[in-house]
Amino acid sequence: MNIILIGPPGSGKGTQAKKILADFSLNYFSAGDILRGLAKEDSPLGREVAQIMAQGKLVSDSLMAQIIEDFLTRNEGDVVFDGYPRGLDQAVFLEKSLKNRGGISLVINLQVPEEVLINRLSSRVICRNCDAVYNLITNPPKKKEICDTCGGELYQRDDETPEAVKKRLAVFDRQTKPVIEFFDRKGGIFNVDGNQSIEAIYLIIRKKLVNIGLGLISA
Ligand code: AP5
Ligand code: MG
Repeated sequence: MNIILIGPPGSGKGTQAKKILADFSLNYFSAGDILRGLAKEDSPLGREVAQIMAQGKLVSDSLMAQIIEDFLTRNEGDVVFDGYPRGLDQAVFLEKSLKNRGGISLVINLQVPEEVLINRLSSRVICRNCDAVYNLITNPPKKKEICDTCGGELYQRDDETPEAVKKRLAVFDRQTKPVIEFFDRKGGIFNVDGNQSIEAIYLIIRKKLVNIGLGLISA
């Protein structure tokens, strides 16, 4: 069963995806993580991606299509998608790509008020080594600049400036909200109040995934 996590910047897609992966046997497609990897490369494409991301804009649909195709070729089995699709053309492309792989079983829509998103993003830190996500206010690491899991250095993303966050929120409103409406019309949206504790949100998601028939790893 393929699952999509959708929601504005800072709504908790990455945080919830990691909890899902601990309980259910799914591949993880994180558009942002893959693009941040590309942006580190010393190549024309790497530099272009880094520049687009730092401004809070979206990279092209054609680049994302190549990335999706490559990921699906290399990973058999069901997938939890985080950060894809972000526009109607991407949604149609993903539906087509998953046609012979069981389609899309569920779209989880994390709903969080804008002022909460801005606060969360200004205090998020990420491990440079293992990508673990923390929040200096709501979900702090034990030591301020060090990852609890691997001891790696914690950093703030390049697209966390107030201007880039504003742009990312605007892009979500204009380009990604229509995707939510698109899946809603098909009856596949599961709305979750994302302005609760990380654990409370995960309990709701976990229950839903079990209810639609996804098997727990430990069961
Ligand atoms: P991406 O990396 O996907 O960024 P985003 O969508 O803006 O989302 P975030 O990763 O910022 O937030 P999140 O929802 O994962 O929240 P998190 O769990 O970290 O994409 C980055 C960029 O890549 C885009 O801007 C674009 O340039 C490009 N891109 C990506 N996909 C693309 C596509 N398909 N097409 C074209 N371009 C694309 O949580 C946030 C913080 O809140 C953390 O500190 C966390 O600890 C804390 N937190 C989480 N949940 C809670 C809670 N319940 N209570 C309190 N704190 C919480
Ligand atoms: Mg994320």
